[in-house]
Amino acid sequence: MDMSIDLSAEKSAEPMYEQIAAQIAAQIRSQALAPGMKLPPERLLAERCGVSRTTAINAYRRLEELGLVRTRVGSGTYVAEGGAEAAAQPMPWHQLLVPAWQSPVAGIIRDLVAMGDSAGISMATGMPDPRLYPWGAFQELLAQGGLAMADLGHIATEGYGPLREALAARHAAAGVPAGPENVAVVAGAQQGLYLLAKVLLNPGDYVVVETPTYMGALQIFQAAGARLLTLPAPGPLQLDLLEDYLVRYRPKLMYVLPTYQNPSGRVIPQGERQALLALAARHRLAVIEDDPYGDLYYDREPPPPLKALDQHGGVIYMRTFSKTVFPGLRAGWLVAPEAVIQRVAMEKQYVDLHSNNLAQWLLYKFVVSGGLDGHLAAVRREYRLRRDAMGQALRRFAGGRLSYAVPGGGFYFWCRLTGPVTTRSLLPEAGRQGVSFVPGDAFYPGAEGEREFRLCFATNDATEIPEGIKRLARAITLAEKAAGEHAKRAGAASLPPII
Ligand SMILES: Cc1ncc(COP(=O)(O)O)c(C=O)c1O
Repeated sequence: MDMSIDLSAEKSAEPMYEQIAAQIAAQIRSQALAPGMKLPPERLLAERCGVSRTTAINAYRRLEELGLVRTRVGSGTYVAEGGAEAAAQPMPWHQLLVPAWQSPVAGIIRDLVAMGDSAGISMATGMPDPRLYPWGAFQELLAQGGLAMADLGHIATEGYGPLREALAARHAAAGVPAGPENVAVVAGAQQGLYLLAKVLLNPGDYVVVETPTYMGALQIFQAAGARLLTLPAPGPLQLDLLEDYLVRYRPKLMYVLPTYQNPSGRVIPQGERQALLALAARHRLAVIEDDPYGDLYYDREPPPPLKALDQHGGVIYMRTFSKTVFPGLRAGWLVAPEAVIQRVAMEKQYVDLHSNNLAQWLLYKFVVSGGLDGHLAAVRREYRLRRDAMGQALRRFAGGRLSYAVPGGGFYFWCRLTGPVTTRSLLPEAGRQGVSFVPGDAFYPGAEGEREFRLCFATNDATEIPEGIKRLARAITLAEKAAGEHAKRAGAASLPPII
C-alpha cells in the first residue's frame, strides 16, 4: 500500500499544502492508507510533490489538525489510529467562534424563557396581548389589494417611501418637524439602538443611562464596550449629577425614556425636559429618546417628546410598532437629522439591506387609513382597565408588602419588596405558584435592584390579573417564611472567624 499524490490536475485556487493534505486525507478515509502506517518523511513528500519542505510540513500539520495523522518526535508521521472516524467527527465550532460578550442578565432571560408557559400567568415579558392584535384590519387591507409587485423587490435601506412620508407627516402634525429624509425604518427599536451604538460609539466611550432602564439597551451599550454613567430614573431628574458627569467624563450620548419609562413608569415633566435639553445643548451631548409607550396613556396625554422641544438638533427619536400593534412586525423607526439617518442606513445595509417590505406596506396602509388611530384608542381603553385591575389587586392582596406607584401609561408596575426577601429568591417560589415577573437586577448595569421587580399588566386581561397577583402574594408569604427560617438557622450556628 503506497501513498499516491497527483497535483497535475486542473489548477486549483486552494493553497498547495491544502491540496496535498486533501489527497492524503481522502486515502486515509477510504482506508487506502491503513491506521498506524508510516507516511513518507517531509523531505521525501516535498520531493515527490515538487513543493518546498515548508509546504510538505504544512500539509502534515493540516492532517494533524484534522486528527488524521500523528507525529512522533524523532520517528516520523503515522496514520492515526481511528483517523478515519476522527474525520467524521462533528465540526468543532466552539474553536472557531470568536468569544461573545456575555450579558450578566442573559441568565435571567434564560430562566424566564425556560419558565415559559409553565409560569401559568406571565407578567414578565413586555408584550401586548395577542388577543388585541389588529389582525382583522390587516386582513382587510390585504384583501383590498393595491400592493404593487415592484414594492416587493428591494427598496431603499431607509425604508418604504410612502411609510416614511406618512410617519414624517404624523410627527410634523404633532410638533416634531420632520420630512421623510429624517425618517429611517428599522427592524424594531432594538435594531435601531444597535445601529446607533454602532455608528456613535467607540469602545471606552461614556454613555449616560437611567437606572433602572431597558435591559436591551444596557446589553447593546455594554457589548459596544461603552462605559455607563447612571442617573436614577424614579423621582426628579438629577441634572446636577448629569452636569457633573458632563464636565468630568464628557459622555457622548445619553439614552433616556422620558415617557412611561421601562421599567419604572416614570414620566419626565415638561420643565425638566426643557432643562435637560438646555444642558445637553450646552455640552453637545447627543440624546437618544426611546419612546415605545408614548401613545399608551390612560389618564391624560403625556408632555410632548424631547424631540418636539429640541432646538439644537441633538435628539434622535426612536419609536416602534411593537407595543402598539404587534412585535412580530419587527418595525420601528428613527427620526433624526439627515446626517444620522444616512449613516445609520449605511450601517443597516451591512445587516439586512432593508426592513421587511410587506410589514411596511401594511403599516403604511394602517396609518393612512386611520386604522392605527382607531386601534390606539381601543387598546388605551383596554389597557386602562388592566392597569386599574392590577392596581386594585396589588392593594388588596399585597398591600404593605410592596411599594409601587400607579403608572399613567405604558405596560408596567415597578414594585419594591418592603420585607427581607429578594426578588431572585422570590422568583422560584412564584414559578411554583404559577406566576412570573422580571427581577429588578435585570434593569441595572451593576448589582442593584435586588428587592425590585417589574410586572407587566398588558398581557393578561382584567379578569386574569387578580389571580396572578393573588399567586404573587402567596409566593411572597412563602418566601418570607423560608427567609425567616433560614435566618433562625443561621443565627443558631456559630460564626467562624474570617481569616
Ligand atoms: C424601552 C424599549 N426599547 C426598545 C424595545 C425594543 O422594541 P422592538 O420590539 O421594537 O425592538 C423595547 C421592548 O421591550 C422597550 O421596552
